[in-house]
Amino acid sequence: MKITRTMIKRILFFAAAGLAMAVQAQVDITIDTKNLGPKISPTHYGIFFEDINHAADGGLYAELIQNRSFEDDEAVPVHWTAVHNQKSQASIELTAEEPMNGAQRKSLRVIVTEAGGRNMAGVSNEGYWGIHVVKGREYKLSFWAKSDKKYKGTLKALLRTEDIISNLGEVDIPVKLDSKWKKYTATIKATGNDPKAVFDLITNTPGVFQLDVVSLFPPTFKGRENGMRPDLAHMLADMHPKFMRFPGGCFVEGQGSPENAFRWERTIGPIEERPGHKNVNWGYRTTDGMGFHEYLQLAEDLGAKPLYVVNVGIWHGGYTPLDSLQEWVDECMNALEYANGDVTTTYGALRAKNGHPEPFNIEYLEIGNENYNFFIDNNKDQSIDYPKRYKIFYDCIKAKYPDMHCIGNVESWATDNPSWRNEYPVEMVDEHYYRNPQWFAAHFNKYDTYDRSKYKVYVGEYAVTSECGKVGNLNAALGEAVYMMGMENNSDVVTLNSYAPIFVNENNVAWSPDMIRFNSERCMGTPSYYVQKLFPNNIGTRVVKTEWNYKLPESSEHSSMMKGVFASTTLDETTNELIIKVVNTGWGPTDGTINLRNGQAASATLERLSSADGNDENTMEESEKIVPRKGEIHMAQQGSMLLFEVPSYSVNIIRAKLK
Ligand code: AHR
Repeated sequence: MKITRTMIKRILFFAAAGLAMAVQAQVDITIDTKNLGPKISPTHYGIFFEDINHAADGGLYAELIQNRSFEDDEAVPVHWTAVHNQKSQASIELTAEEPMNGAQRKSLRVIVTEAGGRNMAGVSNEGYWGIHVVKGREYKLSFWAKSDKKYKGTLKALLRTEDIISNLGEVDIPVKLDSKWKKYTATIKATGNDPKAVFDLITNTPGVFQLDVVSLFPPTFKGRENGMRPDLAHMLADMHPKFMRFPGGCFVEGQGSPENAFRWERTIGPIEERPGHKNVNWGYRTTDGMGFHEYLQLAEDLGAKPLYVVNVGIWHGGYTPLDSLQEWVDECMNALEYANGDVTTTYGALRAKNGHPEPFNIEYLEIGNENYNFFIDNNKDQSIDYPKRYKIFYDCIKAKYPDMHCIGNVESWATDNPSWRNEYPVEMVDEHYYRNPQWFAAHFNKYDTYDRSKYKVYVGEYAVTSECGKVGNLNAALGEAVYMMGMENNSDVVTLNSYAPIFVNENNVAWSPDMIRFNSERCMGTPSYYVQKLFPNNIGTRVVKTEWNYKLPESSEHSSMMKGVFASTTLDETTNELIIKVVNTGWGPTDGTINLRNGQAASATLERLSSADGNDENTMEESEKIVPRKGEIHMAQQGSMLLFEVPSYSVNIIRAKLK
């Protein structure tokens, strides 16, 4: 092998820095600190929330009782069972008789035929694949009850292990029931631990009574009533999302009937007044307990701008004809008034009544979800009359909210080059990409040549969905990271982006991969999650010109499915820090050198996400196998040179404070 001057220089630097210098691949990155590119969009990066895979019910929405309103099944009270011992007896049945209000069609009739003293009987709920009980935690219970024949007794609310061996906390609730529905509340303080506990409501007084909207909440994120599960909400908060898109996704559209779509007005107010709906797209019924108000509240709690996606009168399998579209337009305008109107407006007043007098201020609104599939579906089913629908909504929204950022749909499937194929005005379009890791890495430069004069791009859904292991491996994260660097570089055209979907309850997987996996007790991030967390926490205000030269040793072999090493830089003008991202997609261990032009670093840090193999994944058992870790970086030549390792499969974030 010929030893070049550069190699000698590198050997000397690595020796001075005390690093072993193997003859291996090398990347020389040159950053001209004075050559600044586009401003970084203040809306990089955001999150996409959809109730898919039990992301809301049985997930982020902290409710612990599954089928709390007894509406999940027409015939059987699923997730509920009668509970008794050898000396007591009870049975349960669904009933449509005397519902508590128009929203609740069914309730549960509990028939306790035999009970007394310590022999109790009643009903039991299994939660969402178990109820997570933690000693010392307080669980807030509420339920509604009535009895046709008058019932006086004490109901015991109990958390216990599934095998009935351990009592994990209980509370007695004296009740006096008659034909009027009455609400009861109580708190259970847990006395033990169990990730898969069950909930009982039992009595030693025989009789018949009806129950509805039986709800149990653990402490919630920021202590909100009807709020979010703290560990999952913290995973989102740690990402510092700049915006939050909701409520989907296909969840916006629904399937089979407009009744199965997200209809925001049915999702606000007291939980007992929310009918819920069939989430046919993803295979379960949703309570809509996480409703329009809760989405807006969550966005506010996360410090994210709300991005609401409205239905344009299209659901999977059907649509409202164009000449009857007004009801959908009204629904959208009412939603905007609820979120943005002052308290003197009808819906603004309703928001105040629901506990939030200040407007939530929706600034971003997407008109439809995936409703313009020009190549595979143009003017059929899911795309029927999309441009005309868009225009009707757009005109109406802009007339009242001229500053609203309206987002249009473009093709989400069957093309790598979606575009706005109609004459109507559009500021921003929503592109979706679900591809393999190679595709993402190969499209690092995708936006370099986009026409800047037309419209901005919101990459609203993207993720590696094939060749990515069981639940999402490091290769997936590497491919996405490269693509994200390309989006950052083109921040003048790609102004928003969000990975999709976020959550999956490991007990009910409809879509995989997802970046946060959880069960009743625990959660873990995939490597993609950590990239989605690293990037928003490490982004400056301007793109900085970055060039690199990647050299493989002559004898090198690599097994990566993606190509090479990638680098990009932003400058945080407020802190005068360079933030350099270097991704090695699996092309062997590499020595990295950063040469700064027109500037010197006063200090430098390195954070790295990596593992020995691109196929490596996190699991619930080993959830921190691939997480960001501090790495070593060395300065040379008075801070105009930085030396570091670039392991074969790695995302490296270097922060260099300039002198
Ligand atoms: O993110 C999962 C689904 O993918 C979304 O619901 C839909 O918009 C897309 O097709």
